[in-house]
Amino acid sequence: MIVLSACASDLPAPVVDSDGSSTGEPVCTPDEQLGLYERRIAPLLEDDRPSTCNQCHLAGIDLAVYLQPTPCETMACMVEQGIVDLSAPAHSVVLTWIDRATPSGGITEDTIAAEREAMLEWIELVAACEGRLCEPVDEPCGRPPDATDCEIPPVIDEPMSLDDPGDCSDLTLELVWREKVYSWRGRCFPCHFDSHDEVFDAAPPFIRTGDCNIGSLRTLHEVERAGYLDADEPMQSLLLLKPLDEALGGVEHGGGPKLHALDDPTYLDLAYFAQRWAECQ
Ligand code: HEC
Ligand code: HEC
Repeated sequence: MIVLSACASDLPAPVVDSDGSSTGEPVCTPDEQLGLYERRIAPLLEDDRPSTCNQCHLAGIDLAVYLQPTPCETMACMVEQGIVDLSAPAHSVVLTWIDRATPSGGITEDTIAAEREAMLEWIELVAACEGRLCEPVDEPCGRPPDATDCEIPPVIDEPMSLDDPGDCSDLTLELVWREKVYSWRGRCFPCHFDSHDEVFDAAPPFIRTGDCNIGSLRTLHEVERAGYLDADEPMQSLLLLKPLDEALGGVEHGGGPKLHALDDPTYLDLAYFAQRWAECQ
């Protein structure tokens, strides 16, 4: 694993020419960026490459999440999402995500180090060139043309089937959340969806849309951040009590009662997740 000195961000950007030799000055041409991108970054985004991210996240949650039609737009998207800091490249959040990985399966220390180094090199190049590489990007995380929204599963009358591995890893909790909670979001439609802001202003838009695994993960973190899950008393979680009929122990809900029986399969699944999550905190 590469250890960076604390003041790495104060050093001049290490720039490597297309022939591989180091030069002192960054070469700030779009071709230079494209060369570096194609050599070092594009291979990280290939579909069949084992990604360090998938040690903790479901398939599809990896650096390709930020992928846009051009490198300039991809970088602009990472900046907008706050995972790249052009004023202190070495402190970019994306590097801490890469650092979280541990060697296992097809992933070695070398893979992780190479990923980190490539990402840092790219960020440093863009930072050192101070806007000379890219035209300003209007809509940094505008969706790539082939992006699809996750289909809302039909509401069924039994709990969602899931072979729960039973452990507390991030990956397992993400899976349980996706199957047992995110799958039921049709019952909270459209009020809490981030895609519907005009009509239901009063309902916090905590349900994230987009690709299934990413939408699901972002929703989980929003729910954790907002405090809708109660680690000490999971059955008292707002996620359960808000939609539950007040006559059954629910609390007043701007959307009215949505769950009218304690054996409603949505309620059972939400409760299942709340308890699994609480055990793991
Ligand atoms: C060792 C486990 C681990 C690894 C490896 C890991 N993550 Fe995460 N990730 C987490 C945890 C835990 C959270 C939630 C808390 C946080 O943000 O620190 C998270 C949060 C996220 C989020 C959600 C941010 C939001 O909007 O709520 C995204 C997106 C993400 N990670 C992407 C990645 C990518 C891309 C990689 C690979 C470069 C990666 N993660 C590597 C554990 C990991
Ligand atoms: C018809 C619109 C509507 C539907 C459908 C709806 N809600 Fe709500 N919900 C609201 C409104 C409005 C509020 C804000 C007022 C309040 O806190 O009761 C709210 C509040 C909440 C809150 C508390 C938010 C906070 O920040 O305090 C949670 C949790 C919640 N709803 C969960 C759900 C779940 C889970 C579902 C689906 C099973 C659902 N809601 C369906 C309109 C709706």
